[in-house]
Amino acid sequence: MNRVAGKVAIVTGGARGIGRADALLLAQEGARVVIADIDEAGGRAVAATAPGIEFVAHDVRDEPSWKKLVADTVARHGRLDVLVNNAGVIHVGDPLTSDRSETRHMFEVNVDGTMLGCKYAIPAMIEAGGGSIINMSSIASSSGLYFFAGYCASKGAIAAYTKVVAVYCAQNRLNIRCNSIHPGGIDTPMNTGLEKEFAAKIAGMRLPPNSPVSADAPKMRYGEPNDIAFAVLYLASDESKFTSGSELYIENTSTITAAVVG
Ligand SMILES: NC(=O)c1ccc[n+]([C@@H]2O[C@H](COP(=O)([O-])OP(=O)(O)OC[C@H]3O[C@@H](n4cnc5c(N)ncnc54)[C@H](O)[C@@H]3O)[C@@H](O)[C@H]2O)c1
Repeated sequence: MNRVAGKVAIVTGGARGIGRADALLLAQEGARVVIADIDEAGGRAVAATAPGIEFVAHDVRDEPSWKKLVADTVARHGRLDVLVNNAGVIHVGDPLTSDRSETRHMFEVNVDGTMLGCKYAIPAMIEAGGGSIINMSSIASSSGLYFFAGYCASKGAIAAYTKVVAVYCAQNRLNIRCNSIHPGGIDTPMNTGLEKEFAAKIAGMRLPPNSPVSADAPKMRYGEPNDIAFAVLYLASDESKFTSGSELYIENTSTITAAVVG
């Protein structure tokens, strides 16, 4: 209990899925949590379930909205200690079939959203005397999952940018840490939606027989949102005070299992 007592945290994309679990666990461990999401009904429902959580309508692509979100959080709660850049979107497409507008959507939410979050959180954390930024990447950042071509590129960008922010903060002695979390498949609405998108696009894609998304591939074992939330809790807490610039993979061996190719 109370592993993040007294801390003030913003969790983007906290209306459902992994972000919802992050918000609930941080609040349970003593933080005041602001969920920032475009899903107003979902966000308000999560806020209503736990004291210490509030909801703010926020699109992570919108720079003025970031400015206001951080300023209002500091005005209401006096400080900002933790930012979880969790909001993310995914689309299906291989290197030949990726749709440009879908790719742009992923880069705007996943990459621009994360960069803007860092830009506005860092000054507030300097005022607070330090802080922790947690960026939600994916195993896709380093796994060549070619059927998620643009998504992989966006998650790789998040991993790279995390290191930029970590070194910037360390070199300037800001006492702000920045780490990325790389989940494997987690049971959330994102994956439910993906199944429909695959069904619509699969005929146009090159999927070899050994592809993990071929019709005859074994069903994947998903993790639970809380498997990621416990990593968020560690990185948000002072227990991780010597950890910055790291990539924390939570994925039960999928990235180190050799595939038979060729
Ligand atoms: N579920 C997985 O298997 C998995 C694996 C690896 C990484 N991730 C990453 O974890 C994060 C959370 O994924 P999830 O599975 O919970 O997804 P989800 O789709 O269930 O939830 C995503 C949340 O982000 C919000 N969101 C989307 N666009 C937004 C925007 N422009 N501004 C603000 N909020 C916005 C949605 O409203 C939703 O509440 C994402 O960054 C995702 O890429 C998920």
